[in-house]
Amino acid sequence: MNVLLLGSGGREHSIAKKISESKKLKKFYAIPGNPGINNLAENIDISLSDITGIINFAKESKIDLIICGPENPLVAGLTDEALKNNILVFGPKKEGAILEGSKIYAKKFMVKYNIPTADFRCFNSYNEAKKYFEKKVIFPVVIKADGLASGKGVVIVNNKADALETINKYMNKKIFQDAGERIVVEDCLIGEEMSFFYITDGKTFLPLIPAKDYKRALDNDMGENTGGMGSYAPHLSITEKLKKQIHEEIVINIKNGFRIENIDYRGILYIGLMLTDDGPKVIEFNCRFGDPETQVILPLIENDLLELMYSAALGKLESQHIKWKNDYAACVVIASGGYPAEFKNGLKIKFDIDPYEYIHAGTAFNKKQIVTNGGRVLNCVAIGPSKKTALENAYTLAKKVHFDNLYYRTDIGK
Ligand code: AMP
Ligand code: GLY
Repeated sequence: MNVLLLGSGGREHSIAKKISESKKLKKFYAIPGNPGINNLAENIDISLSDITGIINFAKESKIDLIICGPENPLVAGLTDEALKNNILVFGPKKEGAILEGSKIYAKKFMVKYNIPTADFRCFNSYNEAKKYFEKKVIFPVVIKADGLASGKGVVIVNNKADALETINKYMNKKIFQDAGERIVVEDCLIGEEMSFFYITDGKTFLPLIPAKDYKRALDNDMGENTGGMGSYAPHLSITEKLKKQIHEEIVINIKNGFRIENIDYRGILYIGLMLTDDGPKVIEFNCRFGDPETQVILPLIENDLLELMYSAALGKLESQHIKWKNDYAACVVIASGGYPAEFKNGLKIKFDIDPYEYIHAGTAFNKKQIVTNGGRVLNCVAIGPSKKTALENAYTLAKKVHFDNLYYRTDIGK
């Protein structure tokens, strides 16, 4: 099978690594890739926003399957275009990706199909939203830009002044361009946050092993929110009772919604939840894998991942079954000083061991030297027969890489 992988982060390097183990893989390309992915696949220099360019390349290179890591190409209709050209994609069409691409759409879908979520209101104009906040609102509330805002479009506000400033930034100043023209204002949920991932063809939903993600920059959950500073799997505090409840109250209703709305969803469905005192409530849907959860989930899959993804893209997931290793996996993210705010790119990275022992997230080549090229630079991923050994192995890797001002959390898994 000839495969084209889209994306350039740690999530995509992890996918590339797992796909490379497949006996079914023939030619392997990546757009745009990174030095880690480049070690496994041929990197092709096309922009991820150039859907026509991607499809033309896929046609010329006789690609059998496109695997899409990030959400933007899916929301922009990559899969729709590929299917018109008889190329299969692991990743939903626009009609499915809109669950991530429009928070208003997602909320309305949840209400229509009885999926538990926070109470909310939607606003299409600044004046309407302003009028709402001038009345008696009980704070805190969560304000969300409707569209894609690179994970930055959600804020929890505690008072009227902050709410007005936020809607002004989103709806008048347009800091997220069109993505913030419409907003959702929803109740703030209290509880533990968790994410669940499913490989699906829209009819069969195969749950992936639960993973714990650490979002704050510093130890003890201090510091700013980040894309994720570490993870481990399996996340054992998720009980069978909770899994059953999520299946019955959420997954069955999503499946029903897909059937009734004729949504042909093939790829990953990521469900972000808050475990409240009233049970699990959905805070978001994503049409992609989580990062850095993917880094600890994929190494624990015994199956051929390419076969699983191809079956989902074909709409024939029913006959598949995921077999899990009896191990644990851990991931420690090596970040660049300043992240998630400003940080330097182009810092030389010194490795005491083979650079490809690491998952590359934000790296690039400067001539033959690997340098930093992002806030989250490398992922130290290890597996072991216990959580403790997996974590020790990941931290051993963390000590063997050096660049100016690097930092990482020392409490992953504690
Ligand atoms: P989202 O992009 O919708 O996942 O929001 C980003 C983050 O904001 C989530 O991961 C949560 O930590 C937080 N969040 C979103 N919605 C809510 C909510 N209704 N109540 C509390 N926290 C929320
Ligand atoms: N780790 C959370 C995310 O990928 O959105």
